[in-house]
Amino acid sequence: MKHETFFKFAGFFKGAVRTVSVVTMLLFSANANALTGYKQFSDLPEPKPTSKGELIYQEMGCVMCHGIQGDGNGFLAEGLDPKPRDFTDAKVMSRISDHSIRSAIHNGISETGMPSFELSETQVEEVTAYLRSFLAKNYLTVNACLMDTQIVDTKMSGAKFKVEVENPELIEVKKKGSLLYIIPKSWKVKKALSSRKVTRTLIRLAQNEVSPEDTEKYLSLISVRVHKCFR
Ligand code: HEC
Repeated sequence: MKHETFFKFAGFFKGAVRTVSVVTMLLFSANANALTGYKQFSDLPEPKPTSKGELIYQEMGCVMCHGIQGDGNGFLAEGLDPKPRDFTDAKVMSRISDHSIRSAIHNGISETGMPSFELSETQVEEVTAYLRSFLAKNYLTVNACLMDTQIVDTKMSGAKFKVEVENPELIEVKKKGSLLYIIPKSWKVKKALSSRKVTRTLIRLAQNEVSPEDTEKYLSLISVRVHKCFR
């Protein structure tokens, strides 16, 4: 009896060395999920995520200046200088972060025709998704946690596209086949999150070989929002 217990015990220890790391990993990830609630795997292409945003665009009157096509040719555009932003201009739009879109909507842009709007955060995000959709075939918003890796399946072979990250100091993106691993850079993000709840950046997926007519159009835009996810 004594013997048996001893052997079980010894056996347990031998196994334990190997098992510990697996168990802690399981606990860790279970824990992380409980804390965040964000899904850690996203798919592209997404179904059109923009119907709410489209409604806001029309009802709030963005369309009067920025136009039905988003090209800045709404019926009020003629009298305006500078002209309303052309959301289909990839060069210009690639330099405008989600953050400045948000700020333009909340505060307007002084000395231009761009008025301020009282929209909720969710409404701003929805209309932003709509603005981005003028340019990219797919638009996806991903919520990630400071300590977690977020995986996006682009459903495209890795060789066919290249990845551009707007703020490479905040996140690292690794491409493995069709998958993107989005890894927040821990201390840089912590710093960015010291004064706010969420920090954003943009990932652009561009074609490797572009034909003249689709130059500068992106395959996908992925807006990454990184949260602290602590309690
Ligand atoms: C009365 C005309 C008008 C309306 C209505 C209007 N805009 Fe604008 N918007 C402008 C003009 C003009 C600019 C260009 C300002 C400039 O060149 O700096 C602009 C610029 C912008 C920009 C660019 C911000 C940046 O950082 O460059 C965004 C984004 C934008 N508008 C979103 C919207 C949204 C969303 C709505 C509706 C909720 C809206 N606009 C309604 C006239 C308008």
